[in-house]
Amino acid sequence: MDYNKLGMFIHWGIFAMTEHHEQALARADMSFDVYDEFPKSFNPKKYNPEKWVKFAKKCGMKYICFTTKHHDGFCMWDTKETDYNIMNTPFKKDALKMLADACKKHGMKLSLYYSNPDWHHENAYNEKASHQWKSRYPERADSVKYREFIKRQITELLTNYGEIYTLFWDISPEMIDKSINQLCRKLQPNILINNRGYDDGDFDTPERDVPEGERFRKMTEACESVGEQAWGYRKNEDYMSIRYLKCSIDKVMAMGGSYLLNVGPKVDGTFPKQAINSLRAVGDWYNRMNGALEEHEKSDFEFEFLFKNPCIVTQKNGKKYFHFYNGLRSNAVNLIKYPSVPKKAVFLNSGKEVGIRYETLPMHTNEDFIAVDPVVSFIDIPCNDYPDEPMVLEVEF
Ligand code: GLC
Repeated sequence: MDYNKLGMFIHWGIFAMTEHHEQALARADMSFDVYDEFPKSFNPKKYNPEKWVKFAKKCGMKYICFTTKHHDGFCMWDTKETDYNIMNTPFKKDALKMLADACKKHGMKLSLYYSNPDWHHENAYNEKASHQWKSRYPERADSVKYREFIKRQITELLTNYGEIYTLFWDISPEMIDKSINQLCRKLQPNILINNRGYDDGDFDTPERDVPEGERFRKMTEACESVGEQAWGYRKNEDYMSIRYLKCSIDKVMAMGGSYLLNVGPKVDGTFPKQAINSLRAVGDWYNRMNGALEEHEKSDFEFEFLFKNPCIVTQKNGKKYFHFYNGLRSNAVNLIKYPSVPKKAVFLNSGKEVGIRYETLPMHTNEDFIAVDPVVSFIDIPCNDYPDEPMVLEVEF
C-alpha cells in the first residue's frame, strides 16, 4: 500500500490573524464581534503555495495536509455551502485550489484536514463530542442537517481539487454514520481516511508524543508540530528541539507509521523563520536517511545487543536498518545475536561505510572474566559528529 511517508501538516486560516492559536476564538474567549471582523481584512499577499510545495519537497516530504476548515468554521476554498469562506475576503481567491495546482505541478500529494466541530454552522453543535466551546447556536443542534452539509462540502472537496491522498477528519463526532466515508470512497476510490470521522476509517492518528512500542498493527499517521503550544501560527511560540523532532520521526516511521510535521503559516502566508529552520534541519537529516524510513517492513531476524540501546530494526530491499532513535551511546554497536557475519554497513547519517569487527570479546562479570561467542561489532561510528540526531545503520548480512 502506498503509505509510510513524511508529510507536511499546514494549519492555516483566518485564525492566523489572532497570532495566538488556531482555536483562539475559544481558548482566548474572543467575542464573535471581534472574530467576525477578520474575514474583512484577510488578504495574504505573500501566499505562494508553490513556495510551500517546493520547500516541503526539499525537506523530503511526500504530501501536504491542509486545513480546509478548522473549528472556527471558516472555509479556505470556494464553497457554495456557506458565505463564511475565503472568496468573501479581500483576497477573493480559492487558497485550496492554488495549493492543489502547485501540488499537481510539483508531484506532491495533497491531503485534506476537515474539522467536525464547526463554531459557525448553526446546526453543528454536538453534545457528544469535544471542542464545542464556541458553538454559536447550541439550541439549534441538528446532526442530520449538519451531516448533510458536511456531505455537500466533502463532495466539493473531493470533486474539484484533483486526486486527494488522505482525508484528516478532526475531533471524533462520537457517532457512527458509515455513509459519509462511503461517499468519500465513491468520489476518491484510492483515498485513505483517518479514524477521527464517522467510522473507524483506515488509519490511526496519535498526536504529539508517541511512545515506543511494537510495529503499528493498524495503518498509523502520527502528527506533531514544530511549535509546542499551537498548530496555527503563534507569535510567542515555543519551538520543539530539532533533536526531539528528528528522534520522534525516526521512531514513529521505524514503527511503520507515517508522520505529519506541522507548520502554522503567518497571516501573510509565509512560514515563521524558526519553523523554516526546524523544517530545514529535519529535512537535511531526513534526506540523508535515503528513503530508509519509507515503505519498509519489520525485520524477520532477531537481534540482540551486547549493551542495550533503544533500537528498532526494519528491512527493505534485502538490507536491514538499525534505528537508534535516541542516538548512540558509544561509537560502536555490538551484536551477540545476528543472522550471519555482515558484509557491509553504512552509517546513514554520514553516508559512509563503517568498520566491521568479528571477534570473541572478553566480558567482565562479577565472578570473573569470561569469553563470549564471537560478537559482531560495527565500529568507529562518528556518533559525536551528529549530536542532535537519531542514528541509522544500514547493514547487508
Ligand atoms: C487537535 C487540536 C486541533 C488540531 C489537531 C491536529 O485536535 O484540537 O486544533 O488541529 O489536534 O491533529
